[in-house]
Amino acid sequence: MNSKIKIAVFASGQGSNLQSLYYAIEQGIIKNGQIVCVISNNSDSGALSFANEKNIPAYHVSQKQFNENSEFVKKILNILKQHKSNLIVLAGYMKLLDAVIVNKFKNRILNIHPALLPDFGGKGMYGANVHKAVIESGSKISGATVHLVDEIYDHGSIILQKTVNIDENETPESLAEKVLEIEHKLLPEAVRLFIEEKVIINGDKLIIKKNGKDAQFS
Ligand code: GRF
Repeated sequence: MNSKIKIAVFASGQGSNLQSLYYAIEQGIIKNGQIVCVISNNSDSGALSFANEKNIPAYHVSQKQFNENSEFVKKILNILKQHKSNLIVLAGYMKLLDAVIVNKFKNRILNIHPALLPDFGGKGMYGANVHKAVIESGSKISGATVHLVDEIYDHGSIILQKTVNIDENETPESLAEKVLEIEHKLLPEAVRLFIEEKVIINGDKLIIKKNGKDAQFS
């Protein structure tokens, strides 16, 4: 891979995953990658503040700003085109990406989800809701997932997962903290593997070439 992969990050919240990705690039953990823009539907997001602080082009773009959804989609596509983005990372983006964008960037959109998909995913499964549902299920483990994005919430092929244990008196807040900590390692690792072309897409199967060994995911 000789040219830099130009990453567009979509984020709605505090932006800690954006930050972990940024510093993984800055520290050389991810080579050949560059965050070229940050897009958020939330003008007060920590993600946009961080982007501005680091002089990364930051855009507040929300469907509410447009009468037609097609205009909103066009705005997003124009930003991606302007920055020549060829990889999209959803780092806590609370909206379902429009199918037009998903199709244009087929197999080039990664999402991080704070649970072990395919369980505990889908519409409404975000923030404390996810961790509450996992604890109430009686599960002894939870974790985070990085997956390819398709047109259905939290549904695309899984690239990486990492688990955390759920303790006796675990709360949604304490579990969120544990999961977020591993997200900060998992997302940069998945982006690194993707950029190094170690995520082999074979139909709906993925083969992940992790340190020489192949790990097959659904
Ligand atoms: C993370 O828990 C991520 O898994 C979920 O949204 C949260 C975003 O957190 N999709 P941050 O904005 O990256 O701190």
